Amino acid sequence: MGFILAAAGSAVGLGNIWRFPYEVGLGGGAAFLMMYLIFCFVLCLPVMVTEIAIGRKTQKNAAGAFVELGFKRWKILGLFGILCGVIILSFYNVIAGWAFGYFFEMVGGNFSIAENFGEYISDITKVGLYGIIFMIATALVVSRGVSGGIEKLSKILMPTLIIMILALVAYSFTLPNAMEGVKFYLVPDLSALNSSTIGGALRQAFFSLSLGMGALITYGSYLSKNENVITSAVQITLMDVGIAFIAGLMIFPLVSFNNGGDMSMVAADQAGPGLIFITLPGVFETIGSWGSFVGAFFFLLLSFAALTSTVSLLEVPVSYVIDEFKVKRRKAVIIMSIIIFVIGIPSLLSGGYSQFFSSGFKLPGLKDPDFITFFSGVADSFLLLGGFLIVTFGAYVWKKENLNEELANGYPGFKNSLVRKLFNFAITIVCPIMLAFLFVVVVLNNFFGISIL
Ligand code: PHE
Repeated sequence: MGFILAAAGSAVGLGNIWRFPYEVGLGGGAAFLMMYLIFCFVLCLPVMVTEIAIGRKTQKNAAGAFVELGFKRWKILGLFGILCGVIILSFYNVIAGWAFGYFFEMVGGNFSIAENFGEYISDITKVGLYGIIFMIATALVVSRGVSGGIEKLSKILMPTLIIMILALVAYSFTLPNAMEGVKFYLVPDLSALNSSTIGGALRQAFFSLSLGMGALITYGSYLSKNENVITSAVQITLMDVGIAFIAGLMIFPLVSFNNGGDMSMVAADQAGPGLIFITLPGVFETIGSWGSFVGAFFFLLLSFAALTSTVSLLEVPVSYVIDEFKVKRRKAVIIMSIIIFVIGIPSLLSGGYSQFFSSGFKLPGLKDPDFITFFSGVADSFLLLGGFLIVTFGAYVWKKENLNEELANGYPGFKNSLVRKLFNFAITIVCPIMLAFLFVVVVLNNFFGISIL
């Protein structure tokens, strides 16, 4: 149970509630959603199973795991993953700070923050302070070891968040023009598919499932040998995808309501990363006297979901530093949090405070030339490459027979099952080919503006 909660806590976060809806918006709606679902189950699930199996087999950190299996050179893959975790946490912490700050804004009944979102994120004292608070909170949790109180807390808070989103879905459906939003979200327009939307869907899938950087190698070591790795991975994926899906079901009717049935604004740059921050406050306002309470509670739960993800992001480099350099956990946590916070400073400045970091990254493929968009593009590319290398490693270097043997622990019928055949087909053929190809598609599209699909 501890493993599922920790892994689901890592997966469910800002990726589901903040990033997923705006990516769907930019990606043209339902067609993006369709690709996302296919990628999660066909390409990502096998990567997840492989990561967890490596972690459980070796009981090591993301880099040490490869050495433990006897492949010293592959340690570099783990190191890249760790670097990737550092990069992601550096900007993720900034966005988590935005969400946490919204808690206070909602407590104060400041619904007009939606119109002043641009000002809010460029207010460096505010977002800087929230960023520091969030990093300290993450550090405190990680320094006590991951399996402590946070799991107990997430057992209560995760279902609460789900119930709250479902309640907001129900409410949003009663608002005028809601159906235009639902249509945008659920009726696919296949002409929206191109390099950018297909690549975007795969990037979103990897990011949201915390894949490709060894987070699940690290967490895999918590999984007991009696548990079924495949069922666990399916559960995590279903939970993560399910929460993202209902977040979309909540947002799009609200967008449509706010814009009088016009869904063109979500596809415009105007929406992007600000989408939930711009859409939600106005809706909380319509709730009336309870609006401030509901809004505050929502952003508090969102901050908590973000915290269980930042904890997993920090745990990856920390467990590496503890194992490799034999330092105490506390010291490793302090050093890594400071380094990561410093690396996050350009992201803090990219909300408008610094002209250069807010609009200086004019690469041909980037929709927004700010530093966070650039950095998250770099991180996502690493995740895809990491995912490709991890399955390839599992299938051909460590060898699928050894991987299969690990998967049979906790799954007695695995050997003769159809699941085994499908899994092996996925890791030897489908995933390596498709991930390598889509990695090239994403890099060309994102950094060079070249679309081959
Ligand atoms: N999956 C997390 C989210 O959706 C983000 C994350 C990415 C966490 C990679 C760990 C590793 O918010």
